[in-house]
Amino acid sequence: MTASLTSDAPLATGGTAGSVAPITAAAAAPDVEIIGVTKRFGSVTAVDAMDLSIARGTFYSLLGPSGCGKTTTLRMIAGFEQPTEGEILLSGQPIAGVPPYQRNVNTVFQHYALFPHMNVAQNVGYGLRQRKVGKADEERRVTEALGLVRLAGYAKRRTWEMSGGQQQRVALARALVNRPTVLLLDEPLGALDLKLRKEMQLELKALQREVGITFVYVTHDQEEALTMSDVIVVMRDGQIQQQGNPTDLYERPVNRFVADFIGTSNALKGRISAVDEATRRAVVETDGGLRLSGTITDPAARPAVDSQVTIAIRPEHLDVQPARSSDALGESTDGVDGGGSGWATIQGRINQGTYLGDQTEYRIQTDQAGELVVRRQNQLGASTSQGMGPGDPVTVRWHEEANLVLVG
Ligand SMILES: Nc1ncnc2c1ncn2[C@@H]1O[C@H](COP(=O)(O)OP(=O)(O)O)[C@@H](O)[C@H]1O
Ligand SMILES: [Mg+2]
Repeated sequence: MTASLTSDAPLATGGTAGSVAPITAAAAAPDVEIIGVTKRFGSVTAVDAMDLSIARGTFYSLLGPSGCGKTTTLRMIAGFEQPTEGEILLSGQPIAGVPPYQRNVNTVFQHYALFPHMNVAQNVGYGLRQRKVGKADEERRVTEALGLVRLAGYAKRRTWEMSGGQQQRVALARALVNRPTVLLLDEPLGALDLKLRKEMQLELKALQREVGITFVYVTHDQEEALTMSDVIVVMRDGQIQQQGNPTDLYERPVNRFVADFIGTSNALKGRISAVDEATRRAVVETDGGLRLSGTITDPAARPAVDSQVTIAIRPEHLDVQPARSSDALGESTDGVDGGGSGWATIQGRINQGTYLGDQTEYRIQTDQAGELVVRRQNQLGASTSQGMGPGDPVTVRWHEEANLVLVG
């Protein structure tokens, strides 16, 4: 009996079950769907037949070089630009014709335009006053938003008294205070110095987890995207190159562009001599005379025998050691293990070694693979420089698991 007095849950026999279904359906819809969207400015195609779907609560990054269409994509989601073709849905609803202020999204720009004549709290509460939210409610929500961006106690400050990082937090609080479904961020840390930017990356990620709002984050900085994102979409010339989580993109880039844009990789050109469709593995005869087996990373690619491809190898997947005298004698052999162990071994000479603190990066001249970049972790107390100076002969060794066969 007591339960029925204290609970406002519908009675089991009540007729409210029907009202539950639409809520469930709405919750299942992605926050943002972009369906066949193209945007042209005169003869420039800024966004080219884009399809993407952003699930609720995702930290989603659009990554690509300047001019690839990131900002245009964001502005179409916000409603500042209309697609030339295609459709955008927010929470499952088409939004063509819905003006920006009626969309449940907010944007944070690199150049946050705070109002100089207002204090911090007035800046943050601006959108609430526009929506005629009551004074007490405004104060409570502004306090909450300032707490989220770790500016509790700064409510009465003038914005021009604050540092760049603090001002960007005010801009964030101002965007979050309306509780948007989706927060759009266009290179928001671009104006900050490196150290502050790194701190803010971690904070933004923590903030996004805390509030659970979908973030669509635009950046041209691959490291930033890797640090923060659940999902990254790599763009080039208005087109999606690859979408995936940071590990997917780094470990299985589908083409040369993604492999070069995310991290660095050694590229060995060659020709396919055998393909196994079932395992997605190919044998490649490289231009330098190596026979290497590797995984075809693009699931959509169906390369034929004799196709030109590139083998990409990450610098940290190569091992370098001072050559033993017995190795130097074998320098003219093809160097690849024929016994099926999966290891390739070639000889070279160090061009340059660069100490990077935690790692040393070596540039190594080889006959069979040109100049290779190798990264080696520096060990405490172990002298890693012996026999590893410029001109010293070395052995470079790697496992075939490191060979990524890139078709495009
Ligand atoms: N309003 C506009 N008028 C004409 N061209 C534009 C306009 N906005 C963007 N562009 C062009 O569209 C392309 C994509 O731009 P943008 O989306 O700003 O790229 P990104 O944000 O990735 O640097 C560029 O070639 C840019 O010059
Ligand atoms: Mg831009």
